[in-house]
Amino acid sequence: MNNGISITNHRNGETYEFNIINSTRGPNAVDIRDFFKKTGMFTFDPGYTSTASCKSEITFIDGGKGELRYRGIPIEELAGKHTYLEVCYLLLNSKLPSPDELLDFDIELRHRSFLHRGLHKLFDAFPDNAHPMATLSAATTALASFYKEHINLTSSDDFNKMAHRIISKIPTIAAFSYRHSLGIPFIEPNIELSFTENFLFMMRAYPGGKMHIDRQGERSIKEIEIKALDTIFTLHADHEQNASTTVVRNVASTGAHPYVAISSGIAALWGRAHGGANESVISQLEMIGSVNNVEKYIKKAKDPNDPFRLMGFGHRVYKNFDPRAKILKKLQDELKSELNLNTELLEIASKIEDIALNDEYFISRNLYPNIDFYTGIILTALQIPKSMFTPIFVIGRTVGWITQWVEFKREEKSKISRPRQLYIGK
Ligand code: ACO
Repeated sequence: MNNGISITNHRNGETYEFNIINSTRGPNAVDIRDFFKKTGMFTFDPGYTSTASCKSEITFIDGGKGELRYRGIPIEELAGKHTYLEVCYLLLNSKLPSPDELLDFDIELRHRSFLHRGLHKLFDAFPDNAHPMATLSAATTALASFYKEHINLTSSDDFNKMAHRIISKIPTIAAFSYRHSLGIPFIEPNIELSFTENFLFMMRAYPGGKMHIDRQGERSIKEIEIKALDTIFTLHADHEQNASTTVVRNVASTGAHPYVAISSGIAALWGRAHGGANESVISQLEMIGSVNNVEKYIKKAKDPNDPFRLMGFGHRVYKNFDPRAKILKKLQDELKSELNLNTELLEIASKIEDIALNDEYFISRNLYPNIDFYTGIILTALQIPKSMFTPIFVIGRTVGWITQWVEFKREEKSKISRPRQLYIGK
């Protein structure tokens, strides 16, 4: 076979042939869509460690090299060099916007950032101490009922309107979820502010849109804070077929409303093994409490009989430094002199990093710090509380989820996601 692979079943001597589908970057894939038809067997791959579930043109990761690209552009050329909104435009349109296109996109998003009054009431149904991720996921599902027409999208304009709506409203829902958890009044979006500044404004402002005044009389949101958060949003914007994106695509395959698919993605992201790790990293650093305790916890992390894991370490795909983590580590160093970084937590984090990067256990398993290891300390310096770390991830990732949703829907022959199982019961 010229461009394929042969598999021999040594139980019956039969040989079956399968085509190889070429990628433009990264590993090719064996086309096993008719594997069952040909062999009468399933393939077994729990956790999908060797399975490509779709073709995609959006994001590329080379985990061995520690490389990440959005629409072909390396992340290092985007983060901190283009705004998050430019990156959103890139993911949605496969090209960076011209100044005019960016202006139209920005203006549209600012005007779409408000929530229907009816949705405001939903927050009241949640207890004051509800985690913002629970409220955020529920409110995103509820949003679907306000835009029923998005279930039947046909034209490019329809797709764009649906995508722009969710990207612009998620920060408002996230900020409202947070304010509800504190029992303080919601702050409506301010259309005079950029995407990222507006989010900080909705989080921090006092009723009437007044900002906190410090002893020096300073009341603005600092440029460096906006730049740092904008970079964090960019680094989270997409990450190919991770757990939450796979959930979004699976829900898309059933024909459900796109915002319900996003809500499912939010639920999947919440877990500690995924986006919830950023909150767990800071909780863990606080629990470790002192550089003197680091060795003890490293020992626990290495003990096969102890479920303890170092949060913010390891990744299914990156077997080298997570390129997003590298960018954030640099950003963290830049912020040190300009913002109030928690030096105690920083010291504990640096000691963990130093030990782990030189320890045989972590080296042999390719366990490097991932993006979540660094976001917490930066977000804390931006006065963002722990419970909002994963919602911040959601804000950044919404564009990736919706772009993946659209890509799935535009496929000519998309199938419902329906894996098989290896039955071992009675
Ligand atoms: N601390 C200690 N040991 C670890 C860690 C860790 N953080 N991560 C993996 N290992 C060990 C495992 O115990 C296992 O060891 P073994 O071979 O002796 O059994 C080996 O490394 C491989 O681990 P798996 O769980 O099989 O790796 P997988 O690719 O399935 O999991 C994951 C990746 C979930 C990210 C894992 O590394 C982890 O739990 N990390 C901590 C949570 C975290 O930071 N998640 C954020 C990921 S990035 C994101 O989603 C944005």
